[in-house]
Amino acid sequence: SWTPEHFVDSMVETLQRTIGEEDQVILGLSGGVDSSVAALLLHKAIGKRLHGIFVNNGLLRKDEYEQVLHSYQGLGLNVRGVDASQEFYDSLAGLTDPELKRKAIGRTFIEVFDREAQKVEGARWLAQGTIYPDVIESVSVKGPAVTIKSHHNVGGLPEKMNLRIVEPLRALFKDEVREVGHTLELPEHILHRHPFPGPGLGIRILGDITPEKVDLLQRADAIFINGLKEHGLYEKVWQAGAMLLPVQSVGVMGDERTYERVVALRAVTSVDGMTADWAHLPYEFLAEVSNKIINQVRGINRVVYDISSKPPATIEWE
Ligand code: XMP
Repeated sequence: SWTPEHFVDSMVETLQRTIGEEDQVILGLSGGVDSSVAALLLHKAIGKRLHGIFVNNGLLRKDEYEQVLHSYQGLGLNVRGVDASQEFYDSLAGLTDPELKRKAIGRTFIEVFDREAQKVEGARWLAQGTIYPDVIESVSVKGPAVTIKSHHNVGGLPEKMNLRIVEPLRALFKDEVREVGHTLELPEHILHRHPFPGPGLGIRILGDITPEKVDLLQRADAIFINGLKEHGLYEKVWQAGAMLLPVQSVGVMGDERTYERVVALRAVTSVDGMTADWAHLPYEFLAEVSNKIINQVRGINRVVYDISSKPPATIEWE
């Protein structure tokens, strides 16, 4: 029967047998479970010949770039962090259409990743954290799967650099990936991380993106997510986050009238993200988070909670 220990042993052996002794392998890391587990497996098999690349697209959660890079280094992984935030902001300047924003982010990611990958001498392989549901999704023709796939794709790199693809998690479901990650001692905070879209906060800031808006949203989102963790609610929801709305509303602060931004909180329960229900979070918890955001994040004077299920609403707002 399948056990994570057996899987690790046989996959490590397979990887060692397949990847030539001098071959270098490139892997794009996202901070998510899949790419992290793929990295640990490959690291176990070939050590420093695995070259991880972790790109900061400027659209990650608050402090996530530094924290995740630090965790990877703590695991002994050979990972290079690339802060390309400004490049992403430049490519997004003035764009408001969700699909155009996704395309710009995807294109910039490929440019940055290609550039970094080409610095790895002796690279023969491109590793990917593809899991079984991704394999199925990539043959579907409708819905966000296509967009997701286009983000996961690494452009023309495999042909250009003559790289072969290695996907050690291709046969696994998410829960099996988590079991393998647990066996390989992936830290809990990565292992149980909520799904987070590739385009990140870029599709949670409705309308055009500026570094100032990213900063506002990062701070509101961090209050929400930390609150969920402190109250033992984080693991009870499938995914959660804050959306920055492109409207301003009137409020009062002391005896002054304010005219500031609105944040919508979204938390859902789900099995696979295909359908989802809004999470019935306790009112007291929502009240606390709302107060904290409005008191601590200057520029936001109103917080609303999204009570829409999927379908017909999607999990993300864009
Ligand atoms: P929706 O909003 O379609 O989201 O209900 C379903 C799941 O997919 C994630 N998502 C994305 N992931 N690139 C990604 O990598 C994308 O463009 C994208 N759009 C949505 C979303 O976070 C949820 O987990």
